[in-house]
Amino acid sequence: MPTIQAAITAVYGWTPDYVLTNAELENMVDTNDEWIRTRTGIHERRILKGEGLGTSEIGFHAVTGLLEKRGIDASEIDLLICATTTPDMQFPATANIISDRVGAVNAFSYDINAACSGFLFALETGSRFIQSGAYKKVVVVGADKMSSIIDYTDRATCIIFGDGGGAVLLEPSEDELGVQDSSLYTDGSGKVYLHQKAGGSVKPATAETVAAGEHFVFQDGRPVFKAAVKGMTSAINNVLEKNQLKVEDIDWLIPHQANIRILNSVASMIGIPEKNVVVNIHRYGNTTSGTIPLCLWEWEGKFKKGDKIILTAFGGGFTWGAIYLTWAY
Ligand code: UT7
Repeated sequence: MPTIQAAITAVYGWTPDYVLTNAELENMVDTNDEWIRTRTGIHERRILKGEGLGTSEIGFHAVTGLLEKRGIDASEIDLLICATTTPDMQFPATANIISDRVGAVNAFSYDINAACSGFLFALETGSRFIQSGAYKKVVVVGADKMSSIIDYTDRATCIIFGDGGGAVLLEPSEDELGVQDSSLYTDGSGKVYLHQKAGGSVKPATAETVAAGEHFVFQDGRPVFKAAVKGMTSAINNVLEKNQLKVEDIDWLIPHQANIRILNSVASMIGIPEKNVVVNIHRYGNTTSGTIPLCLWEWEGKFKKGDKIILTAFGGGFTWGAIYLTWAY
């Protein structure tokens, strides 16, 4: 029996309208536009404003756009997976809330939390459901409302993150295009460098934890930076080697948008030219699970059927990896 491959057959992205510029951040914390641009590559990021709007709002718009684009009804979705680190609430899963809002009445749904590698982990999972032959339409969402866990008095983190995300539709490929292979990793000892101190079962929310700002992102940037470069480079090399690919064979490298210096280091260590690396960090910052689907969405018009694409990410956990896929349309 031939192997079934999971192909991305549509992609859609969504970002909120509000633009938080470096100039505005200069009025909030001790920072400046030049430092932010040169140290991170970020010029602006989007922020989801409005009472009662969480990550599901981003997912809702992304999935609605996706379905319209592909011309299918929400009732046709078999499974919806949402990668997020900022769920609407601890439970139920944000994926369930998105499914309900779009009318995916025949889908089961759940969240995956792998921080900045969330979209990769969810894409791998979704593609395995397609490969099983039992599922025909799987939606993978990557979305985060990072502004909900950012301390806007902490210059080490507030300049980096933004809100946004996207969604892809996976369907069985008719010509073996789609997700080909992956190398995914976790190392829980990385927790000390990047985490949220309170609000979970170890340290539930109290008036004291809130007053101490323990529900915000804590990041020790330098060790994360080094581990990110090393982790993404080795994951890409691993996936290239496993598939007997040379770097010249790759049409596009789509890295998680964490820091322009990380992206440049990875690209130069791999030896892939700048023109083949997808970068939009200057406009959206780091949207965690949202960066890769936002890149796919923005670059979709440049991809050709059969293009060889590597996705790579590194994030809290630590989590990291690379996925090799061929573009299906
Ligand atoms: O996506 C999930 C995974 N996360 C990442 O991949 C993030 C990885 N880390 C990074 O991107 C970088 O480490 C940061 C952007 C977070 C920080 O950049 P850095 O070049 O590592 O800066 P640093 O923390 O080493 O700080 C360098 C200097 C310090 O001043 P001194 O001690 O040299 O006087 C900081 O106090 O820059 C100062 N600094 C700032 N100055 C202006 C730190 N943040 C700022 C700021 N504005 N926002």
